[in-house]
Amino acid sequence: MCGIVGYIGFKDAIPILMEGLKRLEYRGYDSAGIATISDNGVQIYKKAGKVAELSKYIEANGISSQMGIGHTRWATHGEPNDVNAHPHTDCTETISVIHNGIIENFSTLKKKLEQNGHIFKTETDTESLAHLIEEMLKHTPDLFTAVRLALNEVEGTYGIAVISKNEPDKIITARKGSPIVIGIGENENFIASDAAALISHTRQVVYLEDGEIACITKDGFYTKTIFDEEIKKQVEEITFDLEQIEKGGFDHFMLKEINEQPETLRNALRGRVLTDEGTSKLGGLSEVTDVLMNARRFIITACGTSWHAALVGKYMLEQYAKIPVDVEYASEFRYRDPVIYKDDVVFLISQSGETADTLAALKKAKSAGAHVLGLVNVVGSTIARESDAGIYIHAGPEIGVASTKAFTSQLAVLSLITLMMARKRGMSQADGRQVVRELLKLPEKVNKILKDINQIQQIADTFYSHGNFLYLGRGYNFPVALEGALKLKEISYIHAEGYPAAEMKHGPIALIDNEMPVVVIATKDSTYEKILSNIQEVRARRGRIIAIANEDDDHIHKLAEHVIRIPHTLDFLMPILSIIPLQLLSYYIAVKRGCDVDQPRNLAKSVTVE
Ligand code: G6P
Repeated sequence: MCGIVGYIGFKDAIPILMEGLKRLEYRGYDSAGIATISDNGVQIYKKAGKVAELSKYIEANGISSQMGIGHTRWATHGEPNDVNAHPHTDCTETISVIHNGIIENFSTLKKKLEQNGHIFKTETDTESLAHLIEEMLKHTPDLFTAVRLALNEVEGTYGIAVISKNEPDKIITARKGSPIVIGIGENENFIASDAAALISHTRQVVYLEDGEIACITKDGFYTKTIFDEEIKKQVEEITFDLEQIEKGGFDHFMLKEINEQPETLRNALRGRVLTDEGTSKLGGLSEVTDVLMNARRFIITACGTSWHAALVGKYMLEQYAKIPVDVEYASEFRYRDPVIYKDDVVFLISQSGETADTLAALKKAKSAGAHVLGLVNVVGSTIARESDAGIYIHAGPEIGVASTKAFTSQLAVLSLITLMMARKRGMSQADGRQVVRELLKLPEKVNKILKDINQIQQIADTFYSHGNFLYLGRGYNFPVALEGALKLKEISYIHAEGYPAAEMKHGPIALIDNEMPVVVIATKDSTYEKILSNIQEVRARRGRIIAIANEDDDHIHKLAEHVIRIPHTLDFLMPILSIIPLQLLSYYIAVKRGCDVDQPRNLAKSVTVE
């Protein structure tokens, strides 16, 4: 996601900041900017696009300074343009702020600040922080205290850096849920959101913990908690190399992204559940709630993994929101003559927001007069811009070509839409509260699955040389079978088919012999008994069964050769858990086969041609 770098010392800060920003490029971003302080006050240079663009712009302006902060932005609130790029400033342009994360209560803060006369210039959540610090500076003369007090008002996540023209000898930085590391030099110090940005200057670092704030000068630093408690920090030595840091210590981006899912799920849910009311609040859809509730039907159209998410969405929306849902491959939808009514709502699901077929489907739906809503990851992407309204899934940049974290975030957001509509269609508050409770437990449950990978690795070792796999599931786990098979195909080049388990006897059962691995998703839901019968059918033909089952299932190990255990949740949320072991299984099989996991042959991350 976004990146932060900062320098204060005796050298020219600009090349150090620009090098730091370049090192953060791998995280994905859509605009970049820096702020420094000179005799004329705070100077901000920012641009949509690549760091190279920003470099040209800065060179043309010929600036130099011995301190500054820099940012690469991956948009969450507001399009990726020059104005929304960080740094942001207050009304008097005294301070400058860069921020990673999401300020959840920014609309409330913004409203209050506007009532107090603050003028906002951007669509970002971050700008509210700049004005809030300005407000605090009316009550305290020093920047450190003003930032500390401001952070007490903020809900959400942040890694921030703040400078002020009135105190040009310091950078204030703080973290909650978004990392900050301080780099210790001699007569110079650094900050970054990621050690990659400072490793070429120093290996001596201090990691901030959540709720901590630090003041960095060229000679040293001090830290407190945001509640004003003194804390002592340990200086540590970085032992990783640059490539390991970029991948967060994981061997591949895909594995890093699989492991990010507890956090990306939290981001998808953040600020969107109303615990007491037992419902959800989706800002992007607030203007179109009536349109949703009065729709004749939903059509969800997408490609690849996003199409699988759409299929889970159909199951949950029909069951709870009581609306008919058609799921369409965008490439088919665009070229046939579908009946589209004016009171249809057409949802486009796309991680990249740029997939050519999905975009064409959007245009077709729009020209037929339907309402067009986007469920997109990349903010400001074409599909996001061309939709009538929409919701971002906030999964952060996905670099591995095979989609993982975007899928679970798409499912989380579809669950929120389902909950909101279901509550308006008769789901009781008590049931709504239970859904909310279960949604909020998902990140921890995913974490649990991710911690227990030994067995998945052993299964990968056993089966990696097999040429075919079958994936079976029923109900909510049928789309998971499709997605599990797709993951395996994409990155290991093993032929794999996903099937509704009962449909197996109409064809694929002919393939089963004692060489055939059959992955069966058999969690304890309303189809559990039925899928046990399907497992028996595979057993009778000596197929090699790998079952994904719940922790308390004390029967399934008698039927399956291998059982991967996952926690319980509500049936309609189960795909968010049951896909995780399948992502890991594909990953470890592909690694064992020596495949290029992050960039599999013939595939593209964003398919912008039809
Ligand atoms: C490509 C990617 C897939 C992705 C699909 C749809 O095929 O390799 O991972 O699921 O496009 O992409 P979208 O960005 O529209 O979700």
